[in-house]
Amino acid sequence: MELRGSMTITNKGHLQIGGLTASELAHHYGTPLMVLDQQCLEDRIQLFKQSFVSSVFKTEIVYASKAFINRYICQMMTKYGLGIDAIGTGDLRLLEQSRFPMSQVYLHGNAKSQQELEMALDLDVGRIVVDSIAELKRLHTLCHLKQKKVSVLLRLNPKVETSTHPYLRTALESSKFGISISNRELPSMISDLRNDPYLQLQGIHCHIGSQINDEAVYIRTAEAMLQLVSHFKNVFNYALKELNLGGGFAISYTDQDTPPQIAALLPAVIRYIENYVQEHQLGLEKLIIEPGRAIIGDAGTTLYEVVAQKTTDSGQIFYMVDGGMSDNPRPALYNALYEAALVDHMHNDQLQNVTIAGKCCESGDIIIEDIALPQAPDGSIIAVAVTGAYTYAMSSNYNGVPRPAIIAVKDGNAHLITRREDPAQMHHLDVASDLIL
Ligand code: LLP
Repeated sequence: MELRGSMTITNKGHLQIGGLTASELAHHYGTPLMVLDQQCLEDRIQLFKQSFVSSVFKTEIVYASKAFINRYICQMMTKYGLGIDAIGTGDLRLLEQSRFPMSQVYLHGNAKSQQELEMALDLDVGRIVVDSIAELKRLHTLCHLKQKKVSVLLRLNPKVETSTHPYLRTALESSKFGISISNRELPSMISDLRNDPYLQLQGIHCHIGSQINDEAVYIRTAEAMLQLVSHFKNVFNYALKELNLGGGFAISYTDQDTPPQIAALLPAVIRYIENYVQEHQLGLEKLIIEPGRAIIGDAGTTLYEVVAQKTTDSGQIFYMVDGGMSDNPRPALYNALYEAALVDHMHNDQLQNVTIAGKCCESGDIIIEDIALPQAPDGSIIAVAVTGAYTYAMSSNYNGVPRPAIIAVKDGNAHLITRREDPAQMHHLDVASDLIL
C-alpha cells in the first residue's frame, strides 16, 4: 500500500497516521473507523490554493461537499476560505448551523425541489447553479413571490467526452445534467434574463465528470466553455463575468491510476484561459473550480477488523471485515479499486493472495479482490487507503449496520469529529403502531 499524507511505518512495522498508531486508534475508537489525516487535507487545500491563481481575473475554489461533509469540514473550509457547494436541504442546514458564510455557497442539483430553492433564497446563498430552463422559470416565480434577487449561473452541457467510468460521465449528449447549448429556447431565455428584475445571470458552469485522468480534457473543456462565453458576448450581447469549470480532478487509488499533477495542471489551465480571455476581450472577472475527491480523497483511511477468515474449496482466501458496502459502496457500484495493508505487519513480506470481503449480505460486497497481504492473526486491523471521498457520503444502514465513527488526526493528536452511529437511534424515524392494517 502506498503511504499517503502523514502515514509512516515504525521500525516494528506498525502503520501510523498523523503520528498515531493505526491499531491503537482502532482499539480506542472501535472499528470500522474513518481516520481523517488533517495535515494531508490541509496540504491538498494549500496545493489547490497555490496552484489556482491569476493576475487577470479572480479565482475561487469551491469544495464539492458531495464527496464528504460534516461540521469539521465546514469549519476547515471556513478556515481556508474555500466556497462549498450544497445539494439537499440537509447540506444547507448543516452549512447554516456551522455558520459557514452563505455568500460562498453554490446550490447545485438537476432536480431541485421547491423546498430547496426556497431555503436557498431564505439563507441568501451566493449562487444558484440552474440546471434547466424549467428551473429558471420556477426560480423566477419564487423570487417574484418573495421579492428577492439571486445571482445565478447556468449549468451548460459542453458535450466533452471523457474516458472515465460511465456512471461518472456527466457531459454526454444524453446526460441528464445541464442545458444543452443547442437548446432552441436558450436565445429567448437569455434575452428575458437580461431584463429579469430578480435573477442576475453572472456566468456559466459545467462539470464534465469525475476521476478524469486525461489532462487534455481539462483544456478541451475550458476551450468549449470559453467559446460559449464568446458566443454569449457576440451573439447574445451578454458579457458573462464568471466561468465555473466544475470538478473532476482524478486522484490515485492504486498504482494503475495516473492522475494529473495539480501543481502543473491548474497553472496550465489558467494560462490557457488568460490568453483566450485577453485575445477575445472577454472581460471575465472570476474563474471557479469545484474539486471534491482531489481535496478529501487521500486524507481518508478506513480501519476495519478482520472478524472471520475462510478458505473456499477452490482455495480462495477471504478476510472478512466488520464493514463493507455500508460504509464504502464504491467497489460494488463502480468496480472501484483500492489498496490495503495489515496495519501491524507492514514489514511482513510473506504474502498470500486474499480477498477482503465486506459483511453485507451481497456477493458483490467485496472491498478488494485479490490483494497480496500477510497472514492475518485473529482480530487484525486492516487499513484501506484513500477512502475520504464518496464513501461516508454514500454510506447506508443496509443490513442494520451503523455508520462508522470519524476521527481527525494531526501531530500525535486525535479527536472525534463524527460519532459512531448508535444502533438504538437507527430507527428513530419509525412510528410504532398498534394499527396493523
Ligand atoms: N461539481 C459538480 C457539479 C459535481 O456534480 C461534482 C461531482 C463535483 C463538482 C466534484 O467532482 P470531483 O472533483 O469530486 O470529482 N460517487 C462517484 C462520484 C460522483 C461525482 C458527483 N459529482 C464516485 O464515488 O466516484
